[in-house]
Amino acid sequence: TEPFTATLIAGDGIGPEISEAVQKIFNAAGIPVSWEPVQVSALTGGVNTEVINSVEKNKIALKGPLATPIGTGHTSLNLALRKAFKLYANVRPSVSIPGYKTLYDNVDLTVIRENTEGEYSGIEHTVNPGLAESIKVITADASTRVAQYAFQYAHQHKRSTVSAIHKASIMKMTDGLFIDSCRKVAARWPHINYVEKSLDAAMLQLVQNPAQLDVMVLPNLYGDIVSDLCAGLIGGLGLTPSANIGRDAAIFEAVHGTAPDIAGQNKANPTALLLSGVMMLRHLGFYTKADLIHEATMATIREGKSITGDLGGKAGTSEYTDAIISRLQQEMAKRQ
Ligand code: IPM
Ligand code: MN
Repeated sequence: TEPFTATLIAGDGIGPEISEAVQKIFNAAGIPVSWEPVQVSALTGGVNTEVINSVEKNKIALKGPLATPIGTGHTSLNLALRKAFKLYANVRPSVSIPGYKTLYDNVDLTVIRENTEGEYSGIEHTVNPGLAESIKVITADASTRVAQYAFQYAHQHKRSTVSAIHKASIMKMTDGLFIDSCRKVAARWPHINYVEKSLDAAMLQLVQNPAQLDVMVLPNLYGDIVSDLCAGLIGGLGLTPSANIGRDAAIFEAVHGTAPDIAGQNKANPTALLLSGVMMLRHLGFYTKADLIHEATMATIREGKSITGDLGGKAGTSEYTDAIISRLQQEMAKRQ
């Protein structure tokens, strides 16, 4: 809980507004952070030496959304950052927000996604105009590393079960190697239940009764897809945080897009980036401050008076931000 410097990648579209909201809230909560803003934009170029040097130095970054072109164009900057810093585990909790009504109650799921390989290896080619191929890469090393992270996470967060999600009935060698690696790691954590579940069956269970799952560990592409589904169960990507964890660095990011249609209009919901910031605080050991910001955010949403349009309210980004700050301040005054 020493003062620290964090790289701030505000991002494209609504990125600057939601980053500003997080900075204001952190400031009000008395977080001893100095932000080091760096320019990365999908619109003006790629990952540059400035951002690489900054994350390398600070080892911690908070990141807003970056635009990603579909089909053609440069590789995603999100992926470039994950690759550059070997951020092997992508952690995405989806937890119901009390008072914010969705079709499901009491959802409490964590997706732990392998973050460096699988279909995301980018090994693709066109054989001829009517035939394209992609190579899915699975290694025992990366599978073991992410499985270890999943069990350690389950242990630290007092979770009962880790499920390895796979399609090894079809992808016999790749997903086969993935679950084989998970199984070996599971043997070292006897107090945590270990389950292997086929991806399709797991999806049926998630939409019928999400309580049947707990912590999930998945290969990269499945984790990408399943984490969006889980976010949908609790109200969408505007509410779910994420962490990209590596041995030497960690990047905390909002998973949602850049929402160019509402950019610059004081309409964006900063919750996902804010809760990613809360994950960053926990990662650094600021547990009390993290809880404080988390509680103030939940209370503001629960009360429903100053929430943004996507949550069914009428407030702007700044009004929502201020509402969270005044709750924070009330709570801090009580504690003094
Ligand atoms: C995510 C996003 C990224 C991914 C895109 C933007 C490259 O969807 O973080 O889940 O596919 O991993
Ligand atoms: Mn995704």
